[in-house]
Amino acid sequence: METNTDQQVAKIELDGKIIELPVIIGTEDEKAVDISSLRAQTGYITLDKGFKNTGSCTSSITFLDGEKGILRYRGYPIEQLAEQASFLEVSYLILNGELPTQEQLSNWEDEIDHHTLVHEDMKRFFEAYPAQAHPMGILASMICSMSTFYPESQDPHRSKEAFQLSINRLIAKLPTLAAMVYKNAVRHPFMYPKNDLGYIENFMYMMWGMPTEDYTPSPVIAKALNKLLILHADHEQNCSASTVRIVGSSQANLYASISAGISALWGPLHGGANQAVIEMLEMIQNDGGDLDKWVAKAKDKEDPFRLMGFGHRVYKNFDPRATIIKQACDDILEELGINDPTLEIAKKLEEVALSDEYFKSRGLYPNVDFYSGIIYRAIGIPTEMFTVMFALGRLPGWIAQWKEMLDNGDPIGRPRQVYTGYNKRDFVPVSQR
Ligand code: CMC
Repeated sequence: METNTDQQVAKIELDGKIIELPVIIGTEDEKAVDISSLRAQTGYITLDKGFKNTGSCTSSITFLDGEKGILRYRGYPIEQLAEQASFLEVSYLILNGELPTQEQLSNWEDEIDHHTLVHEDMKRFFEAYPAQAHPMGILASMICSMSTFYPESQDPHRSKEAFQLSINRLIAKLPTLAAMVYKNAVRHPFMYPKNDLGYIENFMYMMWGMPTEDYTPSPVIAKALNKLLILHADHEQNCSASTVRIVGSSQANLYASISAGISALWGPLHGGANQAVIEMLEMIQNDGGDLDKWVAKAKDKEDPFRLMGFGHRVYKNFDPRATIIKQACDDILEELGINDPTLEIAKKLEEVALSDEYFKSRGLYPNVDFYSGIIYRAIGIPTEMFTVMFALGRLPGWIAQWKEMLDNGDPIGRPRQVYTGYNKRDFVPVSQR
């Protein structure tokens, strides 16, 4: 295939026929060949397993350059947002495209405060889950269940107001539900939200507060959580965001779409990696800490073991979120006076892997999940809740992706395939087989 940038078309020759396809250029000079008319013109489709080289949409939410390690939400560098903004401020930015004024931010915070309670009947759902139920399974079900309490949400086109109400409810109630999932697991009483607290402090109160005791959220922990949630808030067309978009493209309601995103996030190759990293580090530690052994296992193609928290589909030099989190991890452990041996193992593992040709040649670096689990553990989040924390952060991104997909009038997501099964054959009755 050759591209002709002067005329902004790509020429492709198939079966002796040359056809022209438009070239689309993004605002950061990202180039794409629009192949949507390829099949109509030639009978061919493109095959790209795992969508490694396929753009599924145009989007103005998040820009990332994996080679240069750049990540920006609506144009703002992640480093600046993580250092200076609040999570609700960043959520507003991601959802609305612009940073809020002071008045807009106050209104948005008030609006969220007004929706933090979940319907009392939802409390009864928790009773039915086994004590050992994974929090992500419960959370995905709870979010989907919310659609049944708000039937007006079921038509995404009903009205702008109804749509905004669903967004506000989701942002407001996810921390409440996440904390309820935790309280249910430890068999402690649920804590109702305390709306004079900030978004993150309220979550902390519902997680660690008790009806019988006073609880004052630690500013050090609140600051660390704020940063972590911002760093996770969006990441363009990843597995869960693409899931949310594709489910929503059938015009399924927002709650059902977000619930599907939570399920997609759960997997250890995506958000579930934060839990898998800590489990891996503990396993290495309990096994005697022989890093060379585990690095060799990760390189062995016959061995299913991979270094969790290493590698990324789009970052091939470094993950800018990991750089910030590594520093934050050092800071918070020092501030809290915690000496966590898994941090030492993580750092040594990073060193060993980064000096190894296998990892260097494949561009495998620590990703966002490599150090985040150590922070979560230091601040008292149980391992199985780590991916729930990722979901709390990613929620505004999922919603913005869903909203953009509808606003752009994107068609239903429906890929094609190359069929590799049997050709036509006749049915044989069971007695003759
Ligand atoms: N350990 C050992 N080898 C690896 C690893 C790893 N963690 N990741 C990739 N490789 C190898 C892989 O075997 C392949 O080798 P070869 O070219 O010889 O076949 C090569 O590197 C390319 O890997 P890939 O699987 O084709 O790359 P991908 O883009 O399909 O997968 C990934 C990306 C993140 C799923 C993968 O790197 C991985 O499984 N990492 C561990 C899980 C993890 O940390 N996931 C969290 C990602 S960040 C959070 C998020 O945004 O979801």
